[in-house]
Amino acid sequence: MPTSLFRKSLLGLTVAAAMSAAHAQTAEVEVLHWWTSGGEARAANVLKELMEAEGYGWEDFAVAGGGGETAMTVLKSRAMSGNPPSAAQIKGPEIQEWGELGLLGSLEEVAMAEGWDDLLPAVVSDVMKHDGEYVAVPVNVHRVNWLWANPEVLDEAGVEMPTTLDELFAAGEAIREAGYIPLAHGGQAWQDATVFESVLLATGGTEFYQQALVELDEEALGSEQMVEALETFKRLRELMDEDMSGRDWNIATSMVINGDAGMQLMGDWAKGEFTAAGLTAGEDYLCAAAPGTQEAFTFNIDSLAMFRVEGEEQEAQHALARLVLEPTFQETFNLAKGSIPARPDLDMSEFDQCAQQSLEDFQRTAEAGGLVPSMAHGMAVRADVQGAIFDVVTNYFNSRDMAAEEAARRMVNAAQAAL
Ligand code: BGC
Repeated sequence: MPTSLFRKSLLGLTVAAAMSAAHAQTAEVEVLHWWTSGGEARAANVLKELMEAEGYGWEDFAVAGGGGETAMTVLKSRAMSGNPPSAAQIKGPEIQEWGELGLLGSLEEVAMAEGWDDLLPAVVSDVMKHDGEYVAVPVNVHRVNWLWANPEVLDEAGVEMPTTLDELFAAGEAIREAGYIPLAHGGQAWQDATVFESVLLATGGTEFYQQALVELDEEALGSEQMVEALETFKRLRELMDEDMSGRDWNIATSMVINGDAGMQLMGDWAKGEFTAAGLTAGEDYLCAAAPGTQEAFTFNIDSLAMFRVEGEEQEAQHALARLVLEPTFQETFNLAKGSIPARPDLDMSEFDQCAQQSLEDFQRTAEAGGLVPSMAHGMAVRADVQGAIFDVVTNYFNSRDMAAEEAARRMVNAAQAAL
């Protein structure tokens, strides 16, 4: 053998030996997510620590940006270069899209051993399966249609927590007169869409929500009811401040925490921020269903989808999947995250009143037909359709002169283009 070739193969052997030694110490998972705010990072850390306690390594692949749009772009480029992470925060119909590409690995072995089908409600487990096999594992159930408030600001303004949209507008005026920003909001398309879907739910009800934002029914999208939802949504702008452009959602939450603003319409990941600030629900801050949506629950289930990997990485990945549905993770993570556990059989005594209400409302609305998937958080429609709806919502919200009728027409176009 020529010396140079010999050297090369020797080098190869040494590298391989070094690599397998490293692996023997720690089989690793690389996990892509967008949990980067104070509350979110505390929650994500729970999983990292549980993995490490079992002797696995955790490579954090955090991509900042609420709602996860940037994270999904980064994930696509990593997957296209043939090097996806072991697991990624992917949810709703997008799990199916990745499944279709043949990139996800089956978790059936873990699911069977752990009895996932018996642990999870069908509304949750259905989303986790592709072609009848588990390819993702749910970490929680978030509710999107919430209103958060600072009780001191409400007191100063002499108002109660609003329960209808009319009360919301009236409370907002009183809060402004008392010298505070009525509604904290950040200027990003997904945040606009988050508020919009709650307003549409309040003005149109769950059946209309379902027709328009889930089934993409063209008649519903172009209807008078849609125009009314858009106009009411736009009126909320009057309760927001001038500097919201580009602001992150957690900065808006901190305005409520600090008492600069009275209220925020946001999913219950906002509770993670109140919790991280050491505040107590019902005392230091208030939660209630978004005004006019008491009979509905827009759900947003975070899940980790598993890419097709092999060997030790797969072993670590399967350990990750198992841990995610175990009681320790479900409780500790969700206490920090603001959501409720994905499995309904757990002891909820440690959870605060907002979480208790969330669980109760989840079960009540599931029975009464008010449980709907969140469009703004990728649970209702494909990512490209969602993107097209975001554009219409945010352009209308930020335009000085677009009529609601025109925005409704664009909604219909967005749905047609998606077909
Ligand atoms: C995710 C949450 C996250 C929020 C803000 C939502 O789409 O489901 O887990 O906390 O975005 O980043």
